Amino acid sequence: MKIHFYDEVDSTNNVIKQMANEGAADGTAVVAEIQTAGRGRLGREWISPRKSGIWMSFLLRPDVEPWSASMITIVAAMAAKDAIAEATGAECLIKWPNDLVLNGKKICGILTEMKTEAGRVDYVVVGIGINVNITAFPKELKNTATSLMLELGREIDRSEIIEAFDKAFARYYEQFLQTGDLSLIKDEYNNYLANMNNKVKILDTNGECTGVSKGINERGELLVEDEAGQLLVVRSGEVSVRGIYGYV
Ligand code: BTN
Repeated sequence: MKIHFYDEVDSTNNVIKQMANEGAADGTAVVAEIQTAGRGRLGREWISPRKSGIWMSFLLRPDVEPWSASMITIVAAMAAKDAIAEATGAECLIKWPNDLVLNGKKICGILTEMKTEAGRVDYVVVGIGINVNITAFPKELKNTATSLMLELGREIDRSEIIEAFDKAFARYYEQFLQTGDLSLIKDEYNNYLANMNNKVKILDTNGECTGVSKGINERGELLVEDEAGQLLVVRSGEVSVRGIYGYV
């Protein structure tokens, strides 16, 4: 990755999109000290205070079909998990599809955006937010969000995590490109999946249902066995999957 460092931006995803539209190359990355309009999934805000997190986006131009881009988000989640473990020793779990949680609270989120042209991917922007040295969260996030510093009780060097992420992502992305899916990655992913083989609740616009999580398949879809023993295939998007006891 070729990383460009910024002080203040609205959103690193926006900066990378602009660069992409101006022809930037695959592997271009942006890291900012602070985001004034950090964005999360489902139109949510992403709190990005100065110098206390990793606010990073990068550009990919893979020669793949648009439907496979959501798998890249899972590739990035794996790399972030490895990077955090390598730099700090903390073992995060993955909340499907791509949140990282530590001690039951969210520590990292990923927002992938894509531009297509004539049915092919023009570019994919992967934006990663890791709460590193945040010392306090607003009331409404307190029970569901945390930072490495709050969990580990010491300040963490952000550059070590970025460096480890760069290496880990290259390794997993290579495996993804080799097969065009997650078949080389899914077993390790499932080893770190929160609620694997436990009861989960699937919430979407049609309501909710429960079943037992059986992990992802090679397309990154979550397999959930319902009460009748049928395997449901859950695609990411407007769904949320939780254990039955709370956020994770
Ligand atoms: C989520 O879990 O809702 C996704 C959060 C993604 C946050 C990152 S921070 C860097 C990049 N720029 C943004 O505006 N969002 C992503």
